[in-house]
Amino acid sequence: MIRVAFFDAKAYDKPSFEHFGKLHGISFRFLETKLNEDTVALAKDSDAVCVFVNDTVNATVITRLYEYGVKMIALRSAGYNNVDVKAAFGRIHVVHVPAYSPYAVAEHAMALLLTSVRRTHKAYNRTRDYNFSLSGLTGFDLHGKTAGIIGTGKIGRIFIDICRGFGMKVIAYDPYPAADSGIEYVALDDLFAQSDVISLHCPLNDGTFHIVNANAIARMKKGVTIVNTSRGALIDAQALLDGIKSREIGAACLDVYEEEADVFFEDRSGHIMNDDLLARLISMPNVIVTSHQAFLTEEALNNIAETTVNNILSYFNSDGICDNELCYRCGNVERCINERKERCF
Ligand code: NAI
Repeated sequence: MIRVAFFDAKAYDKPSFEHFGKLHGISFRFLETKLNEDTVALAKDSDAVCVFVNDTVNATVITRLYEYGVKMIALRSAGYNNVDVKAAFGRIHVVHVPAYSPYAVAEHAMALLLTSVRRTHKAYNRTRDYNFSLSGLTGFDLHGKTAGIIGTGKIGRIFIDICRGFGMKVIAYDPYPAADSGIEYVALDDLFAQSDVISLHCPLNDGTFHIVNANAIARMKKGVTIVNTSRGALIDAQALLDGIKSREIGAACLDVYEEEADVFFEDRSGHIMNDDLLARLISMPNVIVTSHQAFLTEEALNNIAETTVNNILSYFNSDGICDNELCYRCGNVERCINERKERCF
């Protein structure tokens, strides 16, 4: 039996992981706490740890895991900015789930955009109270508007297709343009200047941290709608709030938030909100916040569990390459997989 300490476990994780674990001889120990320097001791006696987006897997945590004999860090997410992949190299294999349902995330991005543009969240609350007034509910057509997409990977391209279905003009920025995709790529500054809607679909890394900051906002169209379903720190949240207060930004749809780790995924309705910036953003009539739920569909949960189990098996039950390994040595963390003929170390 392969023993896996499963950090930051939520009720919705358990059925799919228990199902695929039982099928393949993996025992998941579900822990509600997040993995960090204070909780890493809980991984003792485990062969692997399974972590999510708000677990902290820095060099210190990795050293402790290595000392405990943990062989694998299995991310049950696509993004891996919370794992020090460089510190893990040569000691612990890191795997992720590169795609579980890019549709889930792209569809949620459009759900947020439509909600914001057509004020359905306000209408829903009103009609439940038998308030049938239309005052303040005027939206705008997406048809004919320009969508600027930052990052044209799996999710970004599906979102582009959805936008085109709505009759939007699409422009995009990506340092690695998708060849033969028919996507009109422009410089980032031009995207900022021309877009009515800007949607972020790039990973968080040194090059994308605060890609939406005060400077960027100053170059955007007045009244722009910003959608972020990628990672919170792509946006400087204070600059976003300032842009909303100055009316430069027309609306913001946020499934992620820079400081979400201490807030999201839990019921905090009976508590005092300590994060003033988030509280202020939520108080704005033109800001919609969801709690990092873009991935949360049945299809995605099953794919995440199945792929994670296969990732774990590819190391423990075979001598072959680890599918979906994130390997620092190759420099281009995700892209070496096709060139690899054997394990990275
Ligand atoms: P992907 O790896 O298929 O695509 C990412 C794209 O971003 C690539 O085309 C890459 O070239 C591009 N990129 C890299 N650096 C860039 C830069 N500086 N500027 C613009 N583009 C850049 O990733 P995928 O699957 O499309 O996911 C995108 C992001 O969505 C993930 O990194 C993750 O942070 C986020 N995500 C959020 C979820 C949620 O529940 N809210 C769920 C899954 C992913």
